[in-house]
Amino acid sequence: MKPLNNWDNKNWLSSHKYILSFCNFLKTKIDINKKTNILDIGCGRANIISFLQKKYRFKKKPVGIDIIKNRNLKKNITFFKLDAIKYFKKSNEKFDVILIKQTIHFFSKNNLEVLLNLAKNKLTDKGKILIFSLKTKKNEIPCFKKMKSNLINSLKKDEILIKQFKKNLKIVKKSEFKFKVEITRKKYIRMLKNRYISCLLNLSSKEIKKGIIEIKSKYKKNIKFNDVLNCFIYKN
Ligand SMILES: C[S@@+](CC[C@H](N)C(=O)[O-])C[C@H]1O[C@@H](n2cnc3c(N)ncnc32)[C@H](O)[C@@H]1O
Repeated sequence: MKPLNNWDNKNWLSSHKYILSFCNFLKTKIDINKKTNILDIGCGRANIISFLQKKYRFKKKPVGIDIIKNRNLKKNITFFKLDAIKYFKKSNEKFDVILIKQTIHFFSKNNLEVLLNLAKNKLTDKGKILIFSLKTKKNEIPCFKKMKSNLINSLKKDEILIKQFKKNLKIVKKSEFKFKVEITRKKYIRMLKNRYISCLLNLSSKEIKKGIIEIKSKYKKNIKFNDVLNCFIYKN
């Protein structure tokens, strides 16, 4: 897959409101305090762990792993530009929380199994793995036709991956994180041009241009929808 550079680049996914709401959700699922050691796999610009670091001033800085080192990467965390599997094979560190948010679809079925088995072994006694992925049914992400068919394929892959890891992991809880997005069509079109989501990465410039015309006719000046994620929690 081509690199995803603009996922959390100045949009709702990097907004204070979203990060605050996401971290408040996290707090209802896990115990976070000064001593919590957190790892974020596929951290992007590390907005989430950076926010948590500011709030809790952890004894050990949270660790973020990503295969891309983005511009505007947050500085108050420890970052490794590495494939997550390679990181786990190299590191001896144990974590209380391993966060894998909107990243599983970048892995093949086999590699995800390897990743999660390694992750399990990196948990402290009371540690938890939290996996977040887009809601696969009735997804509301605004799409044009070609984008939608890519998204549907990606969500089908997610369903296969979820089925597989549920066999392997003792999921203790499943829940949903819901965020109400309100965005101008103009701003959303900029996100589409920036190929903010992975289902846009393999489209040609011509296909994106055509898609934008579709979006202009399909949506009003202000777009409202729910960005909903499934949350799966695993503990040893
Ligand atoms: C959709 S973004 C999610 C970013 C962040 N977790 C969030 O929710 O804002 C997925 C991220 O996973 C990263 N990624 C993809 N494959 C990876 C791998 N093998 N190891 C580590 N990170 C990876 C991508 O570079 C990208 O930044």
